[in-house]
Amino acid sequence: MAKIFEPIKIGTLELKNRLVALPLVQNYADKEGYSSPQMIECYRKRAEGGWGLFIVEATFMRPDGGAFFGMQGIYTDRMLPYLNDVVEAIHEKGVKCAIQIQHSGRQANPRVTKLPLVAPSAHSNPFAPGPAGESRAMTRKEVLQMLDQYVEAVALAKEARFDAVELHGTHGFLISQFMSPFTNKRKDEFGELLAFPTELVRRCKKVCGADYPIIFRFTCDEKLWVLGLPGIDLELSKTFIRPLIEAGVDCFDLANSTFETCDYNIETLYFTPGATIRNDFAPFKKISTVPLIGRGRVNDPRLAMKLVEDGQIDMVGMGRQQMADPLTPRKMMEGRYDDVRRCIACDIGCSQRLFDQVRVRCAVNYNHGMEYREYYGPPKVQTPKRVLVVGAGPG
Ligand SMILES: Cc1cc2nc3c(=O)[nH]c(=O)nc-3n(C[C@H](O)[C@H](O)[C@H](O)COP(=O)(O)O)c2cc1C
Ligand code: SF4
Repeated sequence: MAKIFEPIKIGTLELKNRLVALPLVQNYADKEGYSSPQMIECYRKRAEGGWGLFIVEATFMRPDGGAFFGMQGIYTDRMLPYLNDVVEAIHEKGVKCAIQIQHSGRQANPRVTKLPLVAPSAHSNPFAPGPAGESRAMTRKEVLQMLDQYVEAVALAKEARFDAVELHGTHGFLISQFMSPFTNKRKDEFGELLAFPTELVRRCKKVCGADYPIIFRFTCDEKLWVLGLPGIDLELSKTFIRPLIEAGVDCFDLANSTFETCDYNIETLYFTPGATIRNDFAPFKKISTVPLIGRGRVNDPRLAMKLVEDGQIDMVGMGRQQMADPLTPRKMMEGRYDDVRRCIACDIGCSQRLFDQVRVRCAVNYNHGMEYREYYGPPKVQTPKRVLVVGAGPG
């Protein structure tokens, strides 16, 4: 059996294989962040693929932390049954699931939240450039309150029966704002780049129990050097791994970038598939004593298998590929590699629509996001015909 299909453990949590469905905000939640039938049915369908782990989308833990109109929230006990609906849809298909807990900090969208922006330090906002988008530095008391509320959200996730949580520590959101010299200019103890994340992990473990698995979505490189700006680079991030493990992190989900360098997160079709894992992430294998998830335009089953087989990464995460073909793992297990419908990295159906604040779709999978509709798929023609399609492009 190929190594990618072998079980692996994240702390106490055993996964049946090493294929991970990565978190994807889809704008399917309702206007206050409660899960919707569209969202639940879409998770149920994707879970059918037989992933080892499903990481449910970035979920804001405070109303001032949202970035998109249809994001899921986890900020009141009243959300418990709605969160559990998502868990049950995934568990029904025999798949374990984690939820990603998030606050956008300076990257919150004021159009969405209608609330003042807070961050470790005053900073500009990529969503709302100009003075109106400037975030305010939190006071020390507010930072402590933020920690308490983060832990409450993690405890709620456990109560909703998620098998693990993922702390969103990358892509320029709040936790990584504390970790980056680009965004953290504080003079108190939270000016120490690891003070906030390590304290958060310790508190989560204390409240939820040492055996409740914590995955940390981790910035290897913010790539801000590309813009001539200081930020987290590979040398700095390597020094973060050990203290975070000591604080209690059970697994790292490796990532890159901030909103300023978003192409290094959602890699466009000009990026070589799997190159980020080989170039940026593989060195972390030597440092980390806990398992690592890697991602980066992996849309080819054979490439996914090779990355694990060669020991470049422990688990392969797929973001867009789970939309293009939710059944990817199952087809791989059956050896049907060429039946996998590959993501073409066009970003037209998914990330473009996300940033346009409308619902996410997929250019190569009409059914994505349509699972809740009464009919599933395009209507069948009454009289079938043979047609030749010439030059349809991505369509
Ligand atoms: C529509 C869309 C939504 C995303 N939402 C999230 C999210 O909620 N949390 C997160 O950490 N990353 C998010 N990402 C990034 C993905 O998790 C993933 O890291 C990225 O797409 C690269 O992996 P891929 O090349 O396999 O797609 C999103 C990406 C897309 C395209
Ligand atoms: S819309 Fe394009 S980039 Fe997005 S998942 Fe579908 S094929 Fe991939």
